[in-house]
Amino acid sequence: MGVFASDTGHEQVVYCQDKQSGLRAIIGIYSTALGPALGGTRFYPYASEADALHDVLELSRGMAYKNAMAGLDLGGGKAVIWGDPEKIKTEALLRAYGRMVQSLGGRYYTACDVGTYVQDMDVIARETKFVTGRSLEHGGAGDSSILTAWGVFQGMRAAAEHLWGSPSLAGRRVGVAGLGKVGRYLTGHLLEDGASVVATDVSEKALAWARQAHPEVDLVADTAALVASEMDVYAPCALGGALDDDTVPALSAKIVAGAANNQLAHPGIEKLLEDRGILYAPDYVVNAGGVIQVADEIEGFNFERAKLRATRIYDTTRELLELAAAEGVPPAVAADRMAERRMAEVGRLRTIRL
Ligand SMILES: NC(=O)c1ccc[n+]([C@@H]2O[C@H](COP(=O)([O-])OP(=O)(O)OC[C@H]3O[C@@H](n4cnc5c(N)ncnc54)[C@H](O)[C@@H]3O)[C@@H](O)[C@H]2O)c1
Repeated sequence: MGVFASDTGHEQVVYCQDKQSGLRAIIGIYSTALGPALGGTRFYPYASEADALHDVLELSRGMAYKNAMAGLDLGGGKAVIWGDPEKIKTEALLRAYGRMVQSLGGRYYTACDVGTYVQDMDVIARETKFVTGRSLEHGGAGDSSILTAWGVFQGMRAAAEHLWGSPSLAGRRVGVAGLGKVGRYLTGHLLEDGASVVATDVSEKALAWARQAHPEVDLVADTAALVASEMDVYAPCALGGALDDDTVPALSAKIVAGAANNQLAHPGIEKLLEDRGILYAPDYVVNAGGVIQVADEIEGFNFERAKLRATRIYDTTRELLELAAAEGVPPAVAADRMAERRMAEVGRLRTIRL
């Protein structure tokens, strides 16, 4: 724990409560230097208020970096609703939350995250216009995992180009940890490009999907078995913390590029990867396709425009890997530098009075 807004430099942290509906939420705005803060709402049964605060501070900061690197005119924010969505999620609670978002007057746009879905955003939108991730019937972008997977694929291609001189993954073996929404689309892109895929998931449903949709995918028992198997690229697409002190030394892959957020278990792992000669395409750079997809709703959703923007994750990843090599720092460090530079340089322009 031990993360407080005073230490992290957040612009605004708002506590929201509506006793009748049971709403307890915290909205964290890390930065609006590039525009209104955009980030999803996580609905989760945190063990304590301190845990909820810790999560929202970390996540909202991460969104500022992700949105900056995605080239969006959006700052970084995130919200958490504290409680078990299975037990307390009601229309009244979601609408109470929508009114809290509205009260910020557009400084924060919300979206889906763990525990919140497209249908929930439609309910929240009855009280606020500052909401994305809505259903297609309501002009929304729908399932954001489509462009998340597309963007991860583009980032992986850029890493392949950087390391092997060609972006093609044909003939390469890619390990996909997690065959959820993103992992499934990613598997499709990889197979289409001519790669072979080895994968795992803890869910029998996900494994059944793989056996039925892609019998050519090799399935292994668990993540440890996947990490230990021969592969060229490792794509963590399940939970955070996938790259830790046990995983990195065991990896045969020369590239890591996947969808999961917060893949580095602790600071220093980026150096461990580099020392082992593994090229790490930073998570928040390659998994920005989802936020690009929902951000497009603010202009009136257009899938082709959003896809073009997500395709540019290829160029951003290449530029970043070149910068990292030129500056002699791990890609994760170079990504933070690039994001901070954009926030400072573009954010400063508002001081030019109009
Ligand atoms: N969906 C998006 O648009 C998006 C955007 C950015 C980042 N992400 C991140 O990408 C990751 C995947 O997202 P998703 O939307 O596909 O989620 P999801 O819940 O649909 O899929 C996750 C999958 O991982 C599996 N899993 C969980 N623990 C596992 C374990 N220990 N070993 C193997 N498999 C395990 C689950 O069974 C599930 O099938 C998450 O970390 C998410 O935060 C998603």
